[in-house]
Amino acid sequence: MENFTAYNPTKLHFGKGVTEKLGETALEYGKKVLLLYGKGSVQRNGIYDKVVKQLNSIKAEVFEYSGIKPNPLVDDVLEAAQIGKLNNVDVIVAVGGGSVIDSAKITALSIANSTDPWAIMKYKVKPKKTIPLIAVLTLAATGTEMNGAAVLQNHKTNEKIGYVSSLNYPEHSFLDPEFTFTVPNDYTSYGVVDLIAHTLEAYFGEGEASLSDRFVEVIIKEAMEYGPLVLKEPENYEYRANIMWAATTALNGLTNYGRKSGDWGVHDIGHNISYLFDTPHGATLSIAYPAWLKLHKDRIPERIIKLGNQLFGTNSIEETIENIERFFKSINCPIRLSDINIGEDKKDELIEQMLATKINGMVHKFTDEDRKKVVELMM
Ligand code: NZQ
Ligand code: ZN
Repeated sequence: MENFTAYNPTKLHFGKGVTEKLGETALEYGKKVLLLYGKGSVQRNGIYDKVVKQLNSIKAEVFEYSGIKPNPLVDDVLEAAQIGKLNNVDVIVAVGGGSVIDSAKITALSIANSTDPWAIMKYKVKPKKTIPLIAVLTLAATGTEMNGAAVLQNHKTNEKIGYVSSLNYPEHSFLDPEFTFTVPNDYTSYGVVDLIAHTLEAYFGEGEASLSDRFVEVIIKEAMEYGPLVLKEPENYEYRANIMWAATTALNGLTNYGRKSGDWGVHDIGHNISYLFDTPHGATLSIAYPAWLKLHKDRIPERIIKLGNQLFGTNSIEETIENIERFFKSINCPIRLSDINIGEDKKDELIEQMLATKINGMVHKFTDEDRKKVVELMM
């Protein structure tokens, strides 16, 4: 096991009705609130009204920025930060999935340091402080509610990239599984894939960490059991709760302690697919993971066999990969680019993007030949 420091300052409030404490929690930081949300799902499902009621109960002065899109853009962060700065807000309340919460993290840094958000994302400036962020999670997937990562894209630089900082952890995150009842089946499945992918990125990282490996195995088992059930009964509280907590634990540090690092090569591939074709994050991962495993199978055979053994009771690499593909398919996720109508005509463009951004893992490195091969394997 490698040496490690466990750090996770987010106060996570989980369960039915937890947002009833949102008002008093926001008041700990002040009354000027920047409220961020996406393209309107929270208005349609009533979550917006619940949040506003809480903020009204403390007589908060609320400044809103909405319209943050899936695969969020730095342009929205820039605008949100301008509103926050102009009005000298005390706290940000972000209501949504990963896209909204990630945007809020960088908005907070941008406001506190009067800095261009893309300069932060590119590590060109080192923010020294932030303003408090309260997240109200409405979609189980990314783990952003309890981690220090944020992912944004920029059409001027042709990139979708991640930024990690200890300043990024939300002060508080509110997770009411009922708030995820209205997530449509496609995004529910993408969330299941995403959480599995997060545990695998850790698993295929560097360093022997027995307990962290076991956490990975049980989190995947949880996802494989409750993912299909939640698709059949989207309003089953227990199923939604199990998936929501699994998604948080998949990327809040638990699966990584004792390793030097995770790999994150599959996410790099996925972000480039999302960037080019605006594909939802989880759908890129159900396509990229099988291809990545095929590319690396002769380089890390023991690791894949260990996983297959624990998850599917097989010692065969091929069967392990097939089982993973079969599961993704069973929850209606794409496993090839052709499943999302990306055909041969787009192949060169994708290879060019992979070569230009030099997709790579932190542990398992890619040559240019690998970058081309992985695209072939996804076709
Ligand atoms: O925009 P609205 O109207 O809110 O609709 C959203 C959006 O269309 C909808 N939705 C969210 N909650 C809902 C709902 N619809 C009905 N009922 C609800 N309760 O779902 C759609 C997808 O939302 P989004 O926030 O984009 O999804 P997700 O949570 O999967 O976030 C994806 C983003 O997070 C990044 C991804 O790259 C992607 O940009 N990631 C962030 C990570 C992190 N910060 O740790 C790690 C991940 O690996 C990932 O890269
Ligand atoms: Zn992810």
